[in-house]
Amino acid sequence: MNKRSRNLRCLLVWSQLVLFSLTGIQAQTFFMGNFKSVKQSGSDVTIKSENAVVRLRYYSPTIIRISANKQLAEGDFSYAVIGKPQAGSFRMQESGEKLTLSTDSLSIEITKNPIRIQVKNHENKQLSEEYAPFGTGWQGEEISCYRKLFNGEKFIGLGEKTGNLDRRDSKYEMWNSDVPAYASNADPLYVSIPFFMGIHDSLVYGIFLDNSSRTKFDFAASTDNLFSRFSVAEGELNYYFFGASTVAGILGDYTWLTGRSWLPPIWSLGFQQSRWGYYPDKEILDIAKSFRMKKIPCDMIYLDIDYMDAYKIFTWNPKGFSNPGALITELNGLGFHVATIVDPGIKVEPGYFAYDEGVKNDYFVKYPDGQRYIGSVWPGRCHFPDFTKDVVRQWWGNSFKRLSDPGVEGFWNDMNEPSAWGQNIPDIVQFSFEGKGSSMKQAHNVYGLNMSKATYEGTKKLLNGRRPFILTRAAYAGIQRYSAVWTGDNVASDEHMLLSARMVNSMGLSGLAFVGPDMGGFMESPTKELFVRWMSLGVYTPFFRNHAAKGTNRKEPWALGEDVESSSVKLISQRYRLLPYIYSAFYASTQTGLPVARSLAINYTYDKKIYWWKYQEEYLFGDNILVAPVSCTQNHAKVYLPEGGWYRLSSGDFYQGQQEVMVDAPLEDLPVFVKASGMIPMQSVVQSTSEKPSDTLDLHIYYGQASSSYLYYEDDGLTYDYEKGSFCRRLIRFDPSSKSLTIGKSEGVYTSKFTKIRVILHSFPSLKGFIVHGQEMPIKRSGNTIQSKVLEFRSEEISIRIE
Ligand code: GLC
Repeated sequence: MNKRSRNLRCLLVWSQLVLFSLTGIQAQTFFMGNFKSVKQSGSDVTIKSENAVVRLRYYSPTIIRISANKQLAEGDFSYAVIGKPQAGSFRMQESGEKLTLSTDSLSIEITKNPIRIQVKNHENKQLSEEYAPFGTGWQGEEISCYRKLFNGEKFIGLGEKTGNLDRRDSKYEMWNSDVPAYASNADPLYVSIPFFMGIHDSLVYGIFLDNSSRTKFDFAASTDNLFSRFSVAEGELNYYFFGASTVAGILGDYTWLTGRSWLPPIWSLGFQQSRWGYYPDKEILDIAKSFRMKKIPCDMIYLDIDYMDAYKIFTWNPKGFSNPGALITELNGLGFHVATIVDPGIKVEPGYFAYDEGVKNDYFVKYPDGQRYIGSVWPGRCHFPDFTKDVVRQWWGNSFKRLSDPGVEGFWNDMNEPSAWGQNIPDIVQFSFEGKGSSMKQAHNVYGLNMSKATYEGTKKLLNGRRPFILTRAAYAGIQRYSAVWTGDNVASDEHMLLSARMVNSMGLSGLAFVGPDMGGFMESPTKELFVRWMSLGVYTPFFRNHAAKGTNRKEPWALGEDVESSSVKLISQRYRLLPYIYSAFYASTQTGLPVARSLAINYTYDKKIYWWKYQEEYLFGDNILVAPVSCTQNHAKVYLPEGGWYRLSSGDFYQGQQEVMVDAPLEDLPVFVKASGMIPMQSVVQSTSEKPSDTLDLHIYYGQASSSYLYYEDDGLTYDYEKGSFCRRLIRFDPSSKSLTIGKSEGVYTSKFTKIRVILHSFPSLKGFIVHGQEMPIKRSGNTIQSKVLEFRSEEISIRIE
């Protein structure tokens, strides 16, 4: 900077300071101040203080909404929340010093001078409270809620974040960001889910800060353990407090509020093959044929940006993909479903239909002076649709006809943070926000959510009753209603593989069931060992896709050598055997909000060891399988098995829980365990879900002394007929004390694709036989397992005595 411009800059800064102090808009710090008045009306209690207003709204006995600002806005708006306040209200008591608002589960005590809020459970135990010296405070537009730190308090959640399972001593920011080859401690990344849970004194609570502006969370990173804090950059401090007594209960409430997961098509739960750079159509076909020739099961193949004409969205490259309909018909014939990438940026090019329609109908975001915003992405200079406008979402959704007509059924939403080269779209860019008017400051974090919503709703219509598969990179709370999420441009390293397990688990702790990384790493090339290990982890990851960046070594399952290919066949086959179990787990998440990959913090919340750095990646995959991720350089590993008994899936070896055990971990055999008394339904291996498995469902039961139950679910996996009752749901109960196994009557009108069932008992003590409906059946022993004869899988209750 030369002397003249330095002087000019000083002058500018100085004049701004003068202006700020004259107008009084410098960042003053102030807090709520003392109580002035309270008013109760329906589900709301509104308290005015010297400096601000706080409103508490009753949603249910365990869900309270707290909103604070200098003034509260009229009306109510959220892209994340779909739950409405249930009938009911607070019971309010007022004394000279405090107000007490009670529900059947919680008691909220608000001291008056100054205003401070604390929440107790029905046993009068403190769940959470504001940090007494500050409470809620303002600095300019930013509002922070300072919270008391309890002794040993842990924090979990916040969705797609790097770092430890316990987020104590760390800070995070929500601002969806495109960070290629992100570092293993980078923050923020692509997704914003401002929801976390606090754990202390054998108690748990949850907080969802529903404000889409830049929000921050500081779990005592640098406060000498004085307080934790969360803040919003602008708008209201608007958070929901969850007081259910377990992590699962809080997840149930959180997903009641923001929506439960969509039920994906079953083919998206198989193996998926992708690579940036597949070109032209013939290469895609060759890859698909190789899968079939080599007998490697696979259900999906992806077309990355190269299928488009000059990267223009909703077009096909006339040279490389001249007949997409014929290509996809052939792929479908091979049992593949096709997904294509779409980015939000619409190339500025008169004559290109999406550009012309967008300009004509005013679909693109603009600067306040009316100029359309331009940012550069793959196609060059682009405009960006305003997905906060219903008509734009409709237009976007309908435009997929150009992809769905030739047969595309998977829609991969990328670059939707939104990302533009330079990674700095100006805050001043304007958005409709459903007619309310807003800027990039509020719209940025919900851009990916609204693009995914438009994609889901549009393609659902276009597919005429068949389920589309939606994948997105950017998201906000509530995304589970529309889309799967992958963890962006990771790196081929052990560190990233383990990080991906933590990220997937953390997203599960934030209501997302269908999540996973680019298996094998997107950037850089994995070693054979890393690829096999990551593949073995992928089997037990909800979203199982092999994807890679252009320029990296090929990593189709056969590309790294015959040994890797044969390992891949074994591992992917295991995924397909597990499909009945996996699909039931996905169904469960649509009902309960429990994710498919469940951090051990869900079931074993107060077991300190599960938070240790060496065990923090472990998780339950569905109800009964425990997965312990291990780096590829180790062939032994110490794992921690929580309470109960556990069987190694590959060997049947038994381990008592609540102990650390050293186990073998050869590359293909990731330490994976089954819970004692746990059940796992499995099918025969198929090359894709279009192929029918054998008629027999194998129900594996691992011996345990506790009784257990398991909900089996099946439907056609393809359509929405399940919404009209076309499903088969059976509650299976195992009771070792009465030696009984009952496969409940089938609910729903769908006829299972399995006509037979075989019960396979693992490690049961001496056993004479199976008595099915009073009739003795022959059994077959092999090592530690005992198999029943194949039984009819009829829809009435099946009652079995294990004598
Ligand atoms: C982005 C995506 C990546 C994709 C690439 C090219 O980097 O994250 O998955 O392959 O763009 O479209």
